[in-house]
Amino acid sequence: MNNYFLRCITCKKEFDPQPGLYYCEDCGYIMGTLEVVYDYDTLRVDAFLKERIFDKKASMYQFDFLLPTKPKCKFDEHIGGTPLFRFDLLGIKNVLVKYDGSNPSSSYKDRASSVAINKALDEGNDILFCASTGNAASSLAMLNAHTDIKTYIFVPASIPAGKRAQLEISGAEVMAVEGTYDEVYDVSLELGLKKGWYCRHAAINPYLLEGKKTGAFEIIIQNDFEVPDYVLIGVGDGTVISSLYKGFWEFKEIGLTDKIPRIIGVQAEGIPAIKEVFDKGKPYVPLAIKGNTVADSISVGNPRDVIKACTYIEACNGYFIALTDEEILDAIAELGKETGLFAEPAGAVPFGGLKKLIYEEKITESDTVCLVITGNGLKDVSAVEGLINTESLSIKELEKRFE
Ligand SMILES: Cc1ncc(COP(=O)(O)O)c(C=O)c1O
Ligand SMILES: [Zn+2]
Repeated sequence: MNNYFLRCITCKKEFDPQPGLYYCEDCGYIMGTLEVVYDYDTLRVDAFLKERIFDKKASMYQFDFLLPTKPKCKFDEHIGGTPLFRFDLLGIKNVLVKYDGSNPSSSYKDRASSVAINKALDEGNDILFCASTGNAASSLAMLNAHTDIKTYIFVPASIPAGKRAQLEISGAEVMAVEGTYDEVYDVSLELGLKKGWYCRHAAINPYLLEGKKTGAFEIIIQNDFEVPDYVLIGVGDGTVISSLYKGFWEFKEIGLTDKIPRIIGVQAEGIPAIKEVFDKGKPYVPLAIKGNTVADSISVGNPRDVIKACTYIEACNGYFIALTDEEILDAIAELGKETGLFAEPAGAVPFGGLKKLIYEEKITESDTVCLVITGNGLKDVSAVEGLINTESLSIKELEKRFE
């Protein structure tokens, strides 16, 4: 028996979960993304849950009461439980930094890939497929390396070398396609759904968001149930930001907290698709734009979770901002110098966003802020080539220098 049902974000039609059901066909795959709805009334009065002591370092599966599958794979007990650091940053005393670069494949996406693999096992599907800007694919490929499920990966040929290396090393079957992420997404989605493979494409599979929301649960428990005023996160397709909202909302809904933070989505000025939809206001109408950014992971022109992202961010009184590529690169460098954490471009945008909002006096000293760093900087060192010294010294020069 499932502990949840599915509901269309637009027409609110409810569905019983079943293999192959990913979205509401009446509304289409972007307007008709599905929410996973649990029995919150029962959880709210669950005395056992109220007494529960959460482990600040345990894996994401400690939240199994709000997950649609059970852990069955080797990596599962090591996914999530990532560190929450506290820094005095940019004049703000309490900046929390959730660092998901320390997941097994070095990005936030492990939280979703793990759920996808466990769901594919539940359904007895022996092929998984994924289109991605790089991290979701490398995460799926690496985490799935030791199961008997075959993995087909579709990525733009332009993905950074670190992410491509992860894919090739995992033994997955990799199709590096000459096209944008949006083109690769559409063509592979049609193919995979026709073949009946298990889908790990952003947004379309509603269970992916369920894995990702555990980041919000962890922020809450690691901060001793004090919910921050603001959470900043990089946004491409819109699933991670939606998942954070859902996580904060669910803990409030079942009575574990009494507040949801204002969530601020940070996009790249070169391709700010969700920001444009949000700023135009309701009813939210998906749009496809062309553009580019150094932050490859959020280079998405036709975002698939745009409806959830806009609806949820409005509900928590949040908003979207955008950074130039220069601001994004500065953010990587300054974050590294200030904290010792190395983020890939999309992982550093929350820091750049915070800087901008402090400058604009929208976030002030007395606010508590959490930055979610979604990807390790080692995944994309080419992005920082212009920022680092690559000169070398001869032995003689070295000896001279310290004479
Ligand atoms: C490192 C990183 N940050 C942020 C995002 C944005 O997530 P979403 O596409 O769900 O908005 C991604 C997505 O690929 C990512 O890889
Ligand atoms: Zn619908």
